[in-house]
Amino acid sequence: MALRHFQATNFRCLTSISLEVDPRYNLIYGPNASGKTSVLEAIAYLGRGKSFRGASPQNLIRHGASEFLLCGKVDTRRRQVTVGVRNSKEGLEVQIDGDRETRAAALVEILPLQVLDPEVHSLVAGGPEHRRRYLDWMAFHVEPGYQQRWRRFRRALRQRNAALREGANKISISAWDREFLEAAEEVDQTRRRVLDIAHTALEQTGAALLGCAVGFEYLQGWAAERGLEESLEIAWERDQQTGTTQAGPQRAELRLIYDERRAKPLVSRGQQKLFACTMILAATEVVQLALERPLLLLLDDPAAELDEEALDRLMSRVFGLGSQIIATALGAETLVFPGPAAMFHVKQGELQKTA
Ligand SMILES: Nc1ncnc2c1ncn2[C@@H]1O[C@H](COP(=O)(O)OP(=O)(O)OP(=O)(O)O)[C@@H](O)[C@H]1O
Ligand SMILES: [Mg+2]
Repeated sequence: MALRHFQATNFRCLTSISLEVDPRYNLIYGPNASGKTSVLEAIAYLGRGKSFRGASPQNLIRHGASEFLLCGKVDTRRRQVTVGVRNSKEGLEVQIDGDRETRAAALVEILPLQVLDPEVHSLVAGGPEHRRRYLDWMAFHVEPGYQQRWRRFRRALRQRNAALREGANKISISAWDREFLEAAEEVDQTRRRVLDIAHTALEQTGAALLGCAVGFEYLQGWAAERGLEESLEIAWERDQQTGTTQAGPQRAELRLIYDERRAKPLVSRGQQKLFACTMILAATEVVQLALERPLLLLLDDPAAELDEEALDRLMSRVFGLGSQIIATALGAETLVFPGPAAMFHVKQGELQKTA
């Protein structure tokens, strides 16, 4: 499972680039504002159908152009698949082997990837939605039916919230509750199973990167000592006032534990980054095992904010995973891979292979 060829046209500062991608390690280097992040963002867009920086598709079209095009050839376990994404005024169009595809999730299945970039701290320092998304990404790949379960839950939640906002009475809201409770239970149980599986990888990666015990404390989204049904009952008046459902998996949180204490108020900026990297590398390991194939890891300027030793620890863990890696750096001499690799120099949005 590897991206073997990639082309981007009119994506941010990239007029037209084309690269043969090494199945193990690729380094893209060049000065500030040369286009390194743009190359990674374009590749990630092909695997997710959206930007990892949260940029709107319109802002990603090169100034003066009317659309961007991305195309990749991906070796899957059985055969090579061609994926294409085009974004224009008409919106996003996805093609797989020349056929129009309407599910963005199809991209995620063909090119599963993770990104470590200078914003990775938000996984530790940001709101709970970052960690829920992280957990759900693992669940999506590890448990084949998870996406349907999650969708079923989200639909039930939306219907319940809409009924609350319309001022529906308690009896008619209760009619939604059966479906809500069943779907919530399924989401919660899957998340628990996935966290059980991830536990060892997290511990080992944490020991390697941070040199201490790290862990997750899973908060399900309602009081631990009560069932969800009872929690809905207790929250009824607030639900009515706010027009949103207060209890449920939509409120789940992963509390991060560092050396037996809550990590969030404790760790330094560099440690935040290493904790977030620990989480992502552990999830990558778990998903690679479940899918029985290596994933694509995009490392945007991993050297930022890390001292030399921390960067060494991070990179040796990354190399040990066996994933396909595409990394960026200011210079060619950083992030040296112990084996054959492809090197690309970027300058003003132009890409040139140098090794
Ligand atoms: N839609 C766009 N059209 C044209 N240029 C753009 C567009 N969006 C961003 N750019 C420009 O692309 C350039 C490259 O940005 P990019 O973030 O890829 O650089 P970088 O090599 O990662 O830099 P750094 O080392 O500072 O992280 C920037 O100068 C930016 O202004
Ligand atoms: Mg950059």
